[in-house]
Amino acid sequence: MKGMICYYSGSGNTKLACEYIIGNLKGIEMDMHNIVKDGIPDLNNYDLVGFATFTDYWAPSILIEDFIKKLPQQKSKPAFVFNTYGFISGKTQKIFAEQVTARGFKVIAGHALHTPENFPPMIMAGRANEQAPNDKELKNFKDFISQLNSQVAQLGKGKELKKGKVKGAMLPAFPRTKAKDDMGEKFIDEALCTECGVCKASCPYVAIRLDPKPIFDLDKCYGCWVCFNHCPTKAIYTNKFRGEGHYPKPIDGLKEKLKV
Ligand SMILES: Cc1cc2nc3c(=O)[nH]c(=O)nc-3n(C[C@H](O)[C@H](O)[C@H](O)COP(=O)(O)O)c2cc1C
Ligand code: SF4
Ligand code: SF4
Repeated sequence: MKGMICYYSGSGNTKLACEYIIGNLKGIEMDMHNIVKDGIPDLNNYDLVGFATFTDYWAPSILIEDFIKKLPQQKSKPAFVFNTYGFISGKTQKIFAEQVTARGFKVIAGHALHTPENFPPMIMAGRANEQAPNDKELKNFKDFISQLNSQVAQLGKGKELKKGKVKGAMLPAFPRTKAKDDMGEKFIDEALCTECGVCKASCPYVAIRLDPKPIFDLDKCYGCWVCFNHCPTKAIYTNKFRGEGHYPKPIDGLKEKLKV
C-alpha cells in the first residue's frame, strides 16, 4: 500500500511531526509532499492521504486551503488531518476536516500536536512553549499514530474504514487580513542584509523579489513571518520586532522528542 502526506510547514515543526508519523506507520509506504514546492500531486496510486499544516490564526493556513480546493474530486479516499499549534489550535481540526471532506475524501482520523511557538509576537510575549509537547501530549500523539496503524491494517485487509472524529474548540476564525495587519510593515537593515536570497527562497506566498536587497510585494504578503524567522542575519524587522523572537527551525528539544 502507498500513502502520501501533503504538508505545509513554515519553520519545520509540522514537517518534523509528519516525518515522525511516517517513521512510525507500518505496512504502508508513505511519501512526503511539500504543497509549497511540489505542486498538485497525482493521488490515483495512493490508498491513504494525510493533510498537515500548522494552526494559523486558529484555522488551517490559506495555502493548504487553496491546495485542497485544487485537488481533483475524490470518491471517499481515506484521509487524515493533522496540525501542529503553538498555543491554541482553535477550530483548525474541524475546519481542516470539512475542507478535506468537501473534496470527497473520507476523514478517518485527526490530531493536533502542541509544539513550540514560531509566531514571534507570542515568543516575545513570553509564550514560546519550548517544552511542548508535554508527556501527555506526546502520548496522545503516539495513540493517534497507533490508531492510524490499526486503520492501515484494516485497509490492507480490504475493509472499508469508518469516518473518524476530529476535535476542536469552536473559537471564531480571524479575518485573513489579520496576520498581515498584526505583522505590520517590514523593513530591511541594509547593513545586516547580505543579499543572500534566503528570504525570497523561503517566502511561501512568493511576495519577495531581490533588487539586490529584498523588496516586499504587500499585495501578495500574508504576514507569515517566515522571512523574518529565516533571515540568517536578522536583517528583517518591523516597527515592533527587531533582532529577537526568531524561530528558524525546530528546536533541539522538539527534535529529541520526535526522533524516529
Ligand atoms: C502567522 C502565524 C499564525 C499562527 N497562529 C497560531 C494560532 O492561531 N494558534 C496557535 O496555537 N499557534 C499559532 N501559530 C504558531 C504555529 O501554529 C506553531 O508554532 C506551529 O508549530 C508552526 O509550525 P511549522 O514550524 O510547521 O510552521 C501561528 C504561527 C504563525 C507563523
Ligand atoms: S535573508 Fe536576510 S540577509 Fe538574506 S537577502 Fe533576505 S534580508 Fe538579506
Ligand atoms: S514576505 Fe510576507 S508572506 Fe513572504 S515570507 Fe515574509 S511575511 Fe511571509
